[in-house]
This record gives sequence, structure tokens and C-alpha cells, in this order.
Amino acid sequence: MVVHDPDSWWLDEVSHAGREHFDEEHARRYDAKMDAQAAEEIGLLQDARVLTPGCSVVDMGAGSGQFSLAAAHICERVVAVDVSPVMLARLREKLDLCGTGNVEVIGAGFLSYRHSGEPPDLVYSRFALHHLPDFWKVMALCRIADMLRPGGALRLSDVVYSFEPTDAEPRIEAWITEIMTADVERGWTRAEIAEHVRDEHSTFTWLLEPMIERAGFTIVDASCSASGMLAQYLCKKR
Ligand SMILES: C[S@@+](CC[C@H](N)C(=O)[O-])C[C@H]1O[C@@H](n2cnc3c(N)ncnc32)[C@H](O)[C@@H]1O
Repeated sequence: MVVHDPDSWWLDEVSHAGREHFDEEHARRYDAKMDAQAAEEIGLLQDARVLTPGCSVVDMGAGSGQFSLAAAHICERVVAVDVSPVMLARLREKLDLCGTGNVEVIGAGFLSYRHSGEPPDLVYSRFALHHLPDFWKVMALCRIADMLRPGGALRLSDVVYSFEPTDAEPRIEAWITEIMTADVERGWTRAEIAEHVRDEHSTFTWLLEPMIERAGFTIVDASCSASGMLAQYLCKKR
């Protein structure tokens, strides 16, 4: 176990990474609970000419690696980065089974990962950046911009709030009611969703978007879900 240096002012990413991501039961059922829509994402990134044969990708907060595994069919090099050894163990099991040889699995975080080799063409991150408080989101976005090749792309998806602050209570309640299930094996319980809103750091689109731009990106495409709870961005490094 890595012990955080008490003299360091850098965030301890492990203590902010979500209790459940260090729970082996949760990691075992993760893929049944969460469809990361990797095939759709690959199609979209191919259509945008961001994913092309021979390209390289860093998947930040890769979790059980649904996107990393799909990207490995197209890319020359995929680096799957995550702070949770438990989630990465699931990915390693899958890699052992399918024999894919071009996915590197790295235990690190947004704030600690050091890229080696040629700068990547794409940094992909889905449902992970919200673990960082806003100041640290900016630090993470700046580190991603530094890592990418000139003109490289960032695909960012997360729980991000696009509603007005005064609508927060009804919108969050409506979202929980819409997606919650009693079946913890196949979906998200009310307690799990409530924990996300209460203990993690999802923010508003009107705060996140200037952060992305300030870190050195141009947002070329942005979309928000009808619920006002999810946002997806395709960004280019300026
Ligand atoms: C909800 S899962 C998403 C996994 C995957 N991206 C997906 O879409 O299925 C969030 C992941 O982010 C990871 N994570 C949390 N904080 C992180 C950080 N600071 N750096 C990198 N990964 C982090 C967690 O360990 C977990 O595997």
C-alpha cells in the first residue's frame, strides 16, 4: 500500500477515489452494473478521426477497462491508468483471457501518472474526473494537456450538472428515482447514487467548461443528457 507523504500538499488521490473502487465485490460486479458504451465511443471517435489505426491512447481512470479493451483493436498502444488495484485486477484478468498484448496497465492517477514514450494522440476519461475537487480537476486537465501531442484530443465524459443551481434538489431527486434499482448486482441502488452526489465532486457544466479551456483545450463538441446530470466533451489541445 502506498502511504501518502504527510509533508506533500498534493492531493491523496487514493483517499478521494471512491470507497467502492477498493471493494472487491464491487469490482467483480462492475461490468454488470455499468455499460461504458465502449463500442459507441469508439465509433464516435473514429468518425471524428481521433481514433485512427496506429494511434496511442491513455485511458485515465480506466477501471475494469471496457474502453481500453475496445480501443486496443484499433490503437497501437493503450495505457490504462487507475489508482485502484482492485479495478485494475479485473482488467488484468480480462487481458489474460483475451491475450491482448498492446494494453499497458498502470497503477497511478490523474495527478501522479507520468507518461513515457511518444505523446499520446488521445486521452480518454469516463466517469473518473469527478473524484477530484475542482482545483485538482484543473491540475489534472493541465497535466493531460501537457501529456498530449500538439493537436491531440481529450474525450471527457462524467457526471456533470447542467441544471440551474436553484433546480438542484428536484433534478437530483428525479435522476435518482429514474435510474435507481434494488438490484445491486446489475445497477445502482439509491444509497450508491446518493453517495456519489454527497461524497464525490461532480460540478456544474458552467464551472467545468472554463476549466477545460483554461487548461489549454478548445471544446469542439459538448453534449448534456436530458436529465441534466451527464456531460460529454470532445476537446482538442490548442
Ligand atoms: C466509475 S469508475 C469508471 C471506470 C471506467 N472509466 C468506466 O467508464 O467504466 C471510476 C474509476 O476512476 C478511478 N479513479 C478515481 N480517482 C482517480 C484518480 N484520481 N486517478 C485515476 N483514476 C481514478 C476509480 O478507481 C475507478 O476505477
